[in-house]
Amino acid sequence: MSSSTPLLAAYDLFLPDEDATIRIAQLLSQAVQPIDSKVHLYLEGDLGAGKTAFTRAFLRALGVTGRIKSPSYALLESYAVSNLNLYHLDFYRFNNPREWVEAGFRDILEENAVVLIEWPEKAGGLLPPPDLNLHFHYQDEGRLLSITAHSTKGQSWLKTLTQNN
Ligand SMILES: Nc1ncnc2c1ncn2[C@@H]1O[C@H](COP(=O)(O)OP(=O)(O)OP(=O)(O)O)[C@@H](O)[C@H]1O
Ligand SMILES: [Mg+2]
Repeated sequence: MSSSTPLLAAYDLFLPDEDATIRIAQLLSQAVQPIDSKVHLYLEGDLGAGKTAFTRAFLRALGVTGRIKSPSYALLESYAVSNLNLYHLDFYRFNNPREWVEAGFRDILEENAVVLIEWPEKAGGLLPPPDLNLHFHYQDEGRLLSITAHSTKGQSWLKTLTQNN
């Protein structure tokens, strides 16, 4: 029987300001590397909760240079770092859960790529579970971030994150 610490499935932390959001995004970007298969992160929380701020810092830390625009209008922004594709999606404007399928986004989820989705709940139950779900809640002047793991990979990244935080 293994004596190692059980893998974490959930972790809550308080982010007092935007710098804290950026820092945790940088730490998570370290935890997911080296990237040799899919990395799927879903970001939930009210308008202005910090989903895009987190994603910008995460993509930047993975080597994305140049402007990182919010995909609120275009729905999708794509990047490449060496041979790795990175996709930042925002489903806020979807009115019905089938729209993400009709928009042709299913292929993206099949790729060995980094995929971050804001407002995944707008796809209803049609999306596969992510590796990690990050939920940003307003709390006082800052944010409470609740991270839950939905895959073995996600659990091990979460464990690394908590050890380094
Ligand atoms: N931990 C934090 N505490 C306080 N403010 C924060 C924190 N993290 C980010 N912010 C601020 O909150 C705002 C977050 O905006 P952002 O565009 O990231 O929200 P969003 O969740 O992507 O919203 P939307 O649903 O409209 O896409 C920014 O103004 C940022 O400076
Ligand atoms: Mg956003």
